[in-house]
Order: sequence, then C-alpha cells, then structure tokens
Amino acid sequence: MDGNPDPLRTAKDVRETFKRMAMNDEETCALTAGGHTVGKCHGNGNAEDLSDAPEGGELEDQGFGWNNHKSRGIGANTVTSGLEGAWTTNPTQWDNGYFHLLLNYDWELKKSPAGAWQWEPINIKEEDMPVDAEDPSIRRNPIMTDADMAMKMDPEYRKISEKFYNNPEYFADVFARAWFKLTHRDLGPKSRYLGPDVPSEDLLWQDPIPTVDYTLSDSEISELKAKILATNLTVAELIATAWDSARTFRGSDNRGGANGGRIRLAPQKDWEGNEPARLQKVLNVLEGIQSGLAKKISLADLIVLGGTAAVEKAAKDGGVQITLPFTPGRGDATAEQTDIEGFEPLEPVHDAFRNYLKHDFKSKPEELMLDKAQLMGLTAAEMTVLLGGMRTLGVNYGGSKHGVFTDRVGTLSNDFFVHLVDMGYQWKPTGKNSYEIVERNTGNVRFTATRVDLVFGSSKPPEHCLLQRLF
Ligand code: HEM
Repeated sequence: MDGNPDPLRTAKDVRETFKRMAMNDEETCALTAGGHTVGKCHGNGNAEDLSDAPEGGELEDQGFGWNNHKSRGIGANTVTSGLEGAWTTNPTQWDNGYFHLLLNYDWELKKSPAGAWQWEPINIKEEDMPVDAEDPSIRRNPIMTDADMAMKMDPEYRKISEKFYNNPEYFADVFARAWFKLTHRDLGPKSRYLGPDVPSEDLLWQDPIPTVDYTLSDSEISELKAKILATNLTVAELIATAWDSARTFRGSDNRGGANGGRIRLAPQKDWEGNEPARLQKVLNVLEGIQSGLAKKISLADLIVLGGTAAVEKAAKDGGVQITLPFTPGRGDATAEQTDIEGFEPLEPVHDAFRNYLKHDFKSKPEELMLDKAQLMGLTAAEMTVLLGGMRTLGVNYGGSKHGVFTDRVGTLSNDFFVHLVDMGYQWKPTGKNSYEIVERNTGNVRFTATRVDLVFGSSKPPEHCLLQRLF
C-alpha cells in the first residue's frame, strides 16, 4: 500500500477493484491464486538502470521502454514490478502449490534485490523452493505480494483459500469460469460470440435475453403507436421511460440498453434516476396494451416504440410530420436471468440529458456528460442534438425547469439553441450548478439552467466550447 506492506488494506482495495469487474470474493481469490500459480515477479536488479517508459523512448526503441542498457536486463536480471521470485515450487505448471506454500508456511517481510518489500517463507523445506529461472541447479525462495498475503490474512479470503486448498478440482473449476468471465465479459451478449469454441452453457453474467420470433409490418407498427398515444400517458412520460431503458447501454462492454426490458426488474425499477413511480405508471399502461395484443410483443419493444411514437407526436405538434424508423426484436429478460449485483454499477448516477445528478460529484457535470455520451457511443453532434431536443420535450428528471428554454414544452423544437445563443440575455450564476437567464432590457428572469445547459454556449476554456466546435 503506497510502498508500505499492509495485506489487510490491500484486501479492501483488491475486493473493491474486482467488484467493479463484477467478481465476487471467490472469483477474486481463484483468479489471484490461479494467475500466480504460474510465472514470477521480476526485481533482480536496480530499477534506476532502466530507461524511460515507452512513450519517452528513442525512435530506435520501437515501442519498447524501460530497457536496461547497463546490464543484460533480461531473463534472471529482469526488473519490472521490483519484486523478485516465483509464487510456487513449479511455476510453469498448474497445480495446488500456491495454497500449499501460502497456508503451510509463515511468511516474513524481506526486501527484494530491487529494494521492494515482499513476503518470504520462514524455514522453507528445500524441496518446496522453486528453481532459478535460468539455472535449475539453484533453488530460490518463493515470494508473496501483499495481495497474495491478503488471501491468507483477510478472514473471508482465508476461508475461500482453505476451501480451494482442500478441493483442488473445485479451485480449478472456479478459476476456469472466472478466467472465462474475465476475458469475455466485454464481448457483451453471447449472440456476439463466434466460432466453434463458444461454450453451450448460458452464464448469468452474459445477461441472457430470450430471443423473439415475431416481425411487425409497417401497418402493425402504426397501429401499435396509435394505441400507445391513445392512452393517458404524456409525451414526456413515454420518452423518459424509453430513454431510461436505453441509457444504461455501455459501448465499452455492450452491457445494458433497452434490449431485455430489464427496466421492469430489480435493481433498475428501483433506481432513483428512473423515477420509480412514473416508471411503474408507464409500465402498467404498456403492460395493459401488451396483454390485449394477439401477437406477444415484448415490453422492451413497446417501451422503445412508445418513445418513438411520442417523439413523432412532439414533432407533429411543432409542425413537422415524420415517421421514425423502428426495428422490433427485443426480448424480455426474467428476474432469474438478471444478475442484480452485476447490474448495480450500471446505475445512472448522472445523466445530463435529463439534467440529473444523484449527488454532487468531484467531476464537473459537463465532464460527466461527456463521459456518459462516449460510454453510450454518441458522437458530439448526437449528444448535442439529443440534449437540446430533450430539453424542449420536458423530460428533465423530476420535472425540473433547468435548461427548458422554451414556452412550448412537449413540442420538439430547436428553441433550446435559439435561446442559448440569444444575445438579449445575460447569464447569472445563482449557485454551484445553477444559473438564471435574465433579459438584458428588463432584468426579468426568463429561464434557469445548469452547467450542462450553458456549457454548449461557453467558450471558456476554448476546448469546452462545444457549439463552436460542432457548427
Ligand atoms: C489481486 C490483484 C493482483 C496483484 C496485486 C498482482 C500483482 C502482480 C505482480 C506485482 C506481478 C509481478 C510482475 C513482474 O514483476 O513482472 C504479477 C505477475 C503476474 N500476475 Fe498478478 N496480480 C494480481 C492478480 C492477478 C490475476 C487476477 C492474474 C490472472 C488471472 C494474475 C496473473 C499474473 C501472472 C501470470 C504473473 C506472472 C507474469 C510473468 O511471469 O511475467 N495476477 N502480478
């Protein structure tokens, strides 16, 4: 921990880091132990002899960095982490040696040749010592890092380590599954896997979604849209629900999104940002429509279609007749197909498009907006048009009026941009994240705004002037 040995604090950080990858304690312990069953740490030399990192290297380094020009710098003399040694007696083979050494020996702190703290066994038997990486006639001490010692000293990890030690087959199975998860979860749904090696088993962390087998003709789509618009749901309610169902999508690992209709299920149905009361109201109405249909259309499709129909209505109210494209085919996942804990990191705790911040963050709201937009795979132009359009549709979280620069709320228009760049106004801060838009000639407050509204008109610092860069 910052150069100071502290396996218990390390355990906390390891737990948190692996949790973000949706790994539980058992998977974390299996991965760490299994990974360190093979290979070694490298710290047999002086780190100061290493050249610059790759980006600071010379042209002839061709992408390599940290070269050692003073000694051989490779093989037994490699310095990378600065710790030195293998974890197990046979570091080139899969076995249960990691737990044998970790649990059966006491370990003490020693310094590696590179000067880093590492754990070494007390009174280790000759036959338990791994051989030197280059000279098999020499035996060396094995080592453990703080993270490895965490697997022995943290009470929860220890229970798991003992279980794995006593049941190597179970350990191998948990490791294999966790390794597959670690290396495949960013592929997204299983339907994206290709090739003969795709396992037949469906795994919960793949967020399975039942496939649907219906198609919808243009006239069926029109009829459905008319049915939805004939309900008592407002444009804002329909669009907010469709947006909320879609906004969990992460381009980084293809998780989330409208497909699966998981906004109906825990944990999403209870997320504050999804306004549970409004969400339930919309879902009840859409479910009512669904149950009266001859075709079993998924709710996931109806939610998106509801948003589509509402946008068309809002455009029509603004004098523009459009038909938005709609592709059906989303399935409705069940609660059993949903890893509640695994979905928690997808909670939208900030969403500039609905002018929502769950709480105050260290990062500025406009920085969070860019982060969210890139995570959703939106371009700068798409982000801008969506945000400005949604403001006029009145879909702000909790009905807030910030950034709603229009007198025709619920009608799709470019009023947001018209008022944003109108020199008849002055912009006055009223709090950390709130502004008043004041008429210059009368001094009357015309609108209010947050940072994510005004950033589109700002040119300070220049790189934040999104509008000028885009148009
Ligand atoms: C708990 C968090 C972990 C920490 C703090 C950690 C730390 C380290 C360190 C310091 C090294 C030495 C690097 C060097 O000096 O060259 C290393 C090597 C290694 N780690 Fe980890 N590790 C962790 C988890 C994992 C996981 C999850 C895997 C794979 C499933 C893994 C697989 C390996 C392997 C195979 C090596 C040896 C590489 C070689 O032989 O060059 N580690 N780790």
